[in-house]
Amino acid sequence: MALVTWDNKYAVGVKSLDGQHQVLFDILNELHGAMMKGQAQSVAGSLLRKLADYARTHFAAEESMMSAARYPGLAGHRIKHQDLTKQVQDYVARYERGEVSLSLQLLSFLRDWLTHHILETDREYGPWLSRNAVR
Ligand SMILES: [Fe+2]
Ligand SMILES: [Fe+2]
Repeated sequence: MALVTWDNKYAVGVKSLDGQHQVLFDILNELHGAMMKGQAQSVAGSLLRKLADYARTHFAAEESMMSAARYPGLAGHRIKHQDLTKQVQDYVARYERGEVSLSLQLLSFLRDWLTHHILETDREYGPWLSRNAVR
């Protein structure tokens, strides 16, 4: 079973960003699959890196769209992205040092890290970006 399943409740109303969120869900599910199959630490490590890297790319894309649309909540949103980036990078670093292993606890943390941000923060920009013709 997948760790996280895409649902309309996660839609922010901007196609390209919904697509990026789905890619993040896919990477989380790949990590979950790797854990279930007991795959080597190296596989999980590179997936964790991929998640952190893709999240950074996604945050930058979101910020540039918010900036282009002159979204008033950009500054606060950017701070949340910086905080999220730090949290996941800390986890990746601890994983690489062997201080934490791939566990359901780590995966649940990452799932909540992503879904809470989408539901509580990303969804707020949806109406503004749609009104300002960002697709
Ligand atoms: Fe997002
Ligand atoms: Fe965001």
